[in-house]
Amino acid sequence: MVPLKRRKLLSTQTGNNGNSGTDVIGVKAPVKFPDVVIFLLERKMGASRRAFLSQLAAKNGFHVQETFSGMVTHVVSEGNSGAEVGSWLDSQTDGSAHRPVHLLDMSWFTQSMKAGRPIDITDTHRLQQVDESEVEVFSVPSFACQRRTTLENHNTVLTDALSLLAEMAELSAEEGRGVAFRRACAVLKCLNEPVTAMSQLRGLPCLGEHSLRVIQDILENGASSEAESTKCSERFKALKLLTGVFGVGCKTADRWIREGILSLQQLTDSAHSLNRAQQAGVDHYDDLNQPVTKAEADSISVIVEKALVTVLPGATMTLIGGFRRGKQTGHDVDFLITHPEEGAEVGLMPRVVSWLQSKGFLLYQKTTRNSYLEAKDGPARPASNMDRFERCFSIFKLDKQGPGLQSHTQRATDGEGSHFGDAVDSVCEPENGQIKQWRAVRVDLVVSPISQFPFALLGWTGSKLFERELRRWAGHEKSMSLSSHALYDSTQRTYLRATSEEEIFTHLGLEFIPPSERNA
Ligand code: UTP
Ligand code: MN
Repeated sequence: MVPLKRRKLLSTQTGNNGNSGTDVIGVKAPVKFPDVVIFLLERKMGASRRAFLSQLAAKNGFHVQETFSGMVTHVVSEGNSGAEVGSWLDSQTDGSAHRPVHLLDMSWFTQSMKAGRPIDITDTHRLQQVDESEVEVFSVPSFACQRRTTLENHNTVLTDALSLLAEMAELSAEEGRGVAFRRACAVLKCLNEPVTAMSQLRGLPCLGEHSLRVIQDILENGASSEAESTKCSERFKALKLLTGVFGVGCKTADRWIREGILSLQQLTDSAHSLNRAQQAGVDHYDDLNQPVTKAEADSISVIVEKALVTVLPGATMTLIGGFRRGKQTGHDVDFLITHPEEGAEVGLMPRVVSWLQSKGFLLYQKTTRNSYLEAKDGPARPASNMDRFERCFSIFKLDKQGPGLQSHTQRATDGEGSHFGDAVDSVCEPENGQIKQWRAVRVDLVVSPISQFPFALLGWTGSKLFERELRRWAGHEKSMSLSSHALYDSTQRTYLRATSEEEIFTHLGLEFIPPSERNA
């Protein structure tokens, strides 16, 4: 049973416009602007929001009509295109009656309420009276791994806000909420044009109620109040700052915040003993929170290459992570190392690390052994296989004058500048007043046997959401489990081998997406 008041409102949506000019019920000031007669379209706005806005306007001295009639001068709607409102009007008036003067978007209404008077109408307020067929209604496949997402983003204002809310959810250990925002964000990133109206989003996947609310707020008001207030909140700032320390996760940061630690100074003043990683994180805080450039990544490639040539000729390395996707900056540099002969890579990591250490390139390192065994680990827990490679988390000491990094003047005087090995030690600690000659850079090294290389390459190229979606696709759509080690087909009960990323996409029944289009 629909309540009485709601039934009355509903009747305005079903063509009952015989009664010209029933005014809204509720608190009402005398009409201050007799030339403006507003009608709020319930379609998409909903009855309760419409009732609320009607009363708000009436309180401000605006004349709002509950029922549509020829007296109406301003039709205001929300999330509808000009064509949609136009056809609604036609259905109300058989297309023959007098058309209202203005078909307006909610932005005109909210700004007028703020101003306390009907503001001048501009093109941004007016609903475009174009054919529905001319309005681009976006359409994309559901899984990010079915889509091509380049670094060219036409909706940065929307995606910045959603990313920020995702980050806050992740920092608060609310993984589900984080993923929901990341998925919504990824959908907007692959659109080929900026979103200008809510109606364009009809039919897009992964846009939940909350994300839509954020988008609508931005389209109407230029910014998301939720994202803005999150960004300014003490908790967000403290979580960002503390998790910005290498080796500190959101749980530790949260514990410290509850103890009243909100700054690095408070952390170092506190009695907390930091582990080796966290101590390095504090020592190199500024450097590690400064984006790594592509030139710096290339410079580190040269160093790692040199290490490999020395300790195991024939071993190869590939730049993975964001830089492989074409990003110009990153939070770290990731390398995947392998050798064309299966088994030759065993024991390689400790030798690479010793060489780097002996040359003074490492400020910190922690190596984990390869613990993946197909027979034992099998397909049962694919996600847990993600970090089972022999892996080295490190902090490099990168010479700012290193190969490819010098300024032009220096390059000219240094000639080829091919030295990088022992050069680092000679320019390390800053002397009084002197600029530091090196910077700390996070570097991840991963070693994979050649048989798992394509899976590792695919798994470590990212983006994180792209990887997550690939695994979701494999599980949901193909009954397969994908990890950075292997692909298992649960129906056939067999591992599917691959010698390239392309073959893995084929096994998964997906079109191949090159790294530069995996920026979901
Ligand atoms: P990163 O965290 O380095 O991300 O992980 P990124 O895309 O390179 O971004 P920036 O530029 O450094 O900030 C790179 C890839 O490695 C995978 C992630 O899924 C991501 O796709 N990865 C990372 C793992 O598989 N396991 C891990 O433990 C860490
Ligand atoms: Mn990275």
